[in-house]
Amino acid sequence: MKIVLACDHGGFELKEAVKEHLIKNGYDVNDIGVYNTNSVDYPDYGKNAAEIVAKNEADKGIVICGTGIGISLAANKVKGIRCALCTNEYMAKMSRMHNDANMLAMGNRVIGHGVALDIVDVWLSTAFEGGRHEVRVKKLMEIEKNYKEEE
Ligand code: RB5
Repeated sequence: MKIVLACDHGGFELKEAVKEHLIKNGYDVNDIGVYNTNSVDYPDYGKNAAEIVAKNEADKGIVICGTGIGISLAANKVKGIRCALCTNEYMAKMSRMHNDANMLAMGNRVIGHGVALDIVDVWLSTAFEGGRHEVRVKKLMEIEKNYKEEE
């Protein structure tokens, strides 16, 4: 499975830990930065990672900033993206089962690295449940269709 990884300076340490964890577990990781803690703008990295997922150049994306909020907001502006900000395994599981999230966001300043790696494992190994959730996800994407093409 191909995974694109991105972060801002606030998420750098956790991104490095996630990257190491994913590579150790056999994932094909595309780390698009940042590569140090110099200050950058999270919208740039959230958008770049999301575009890679939207273009199917990666199966899933993981984005990290200080809180996970800014970078998840940025990713969710890209058409086709359902980026879930998760702080625990239950959210990670449900974001896959019910929301078919194709991107995961986490906050380096919010959760510990052990919790974050467990979130990643659960998120990557949980399938979308489909059924009634299929209808809801479809409705979700229809909202996007109605608003984003007006610009
Ligand atoms: C950067 O200081 C911080 O604002 C950013 O990493 C993130 O938490 C934004 O939502």
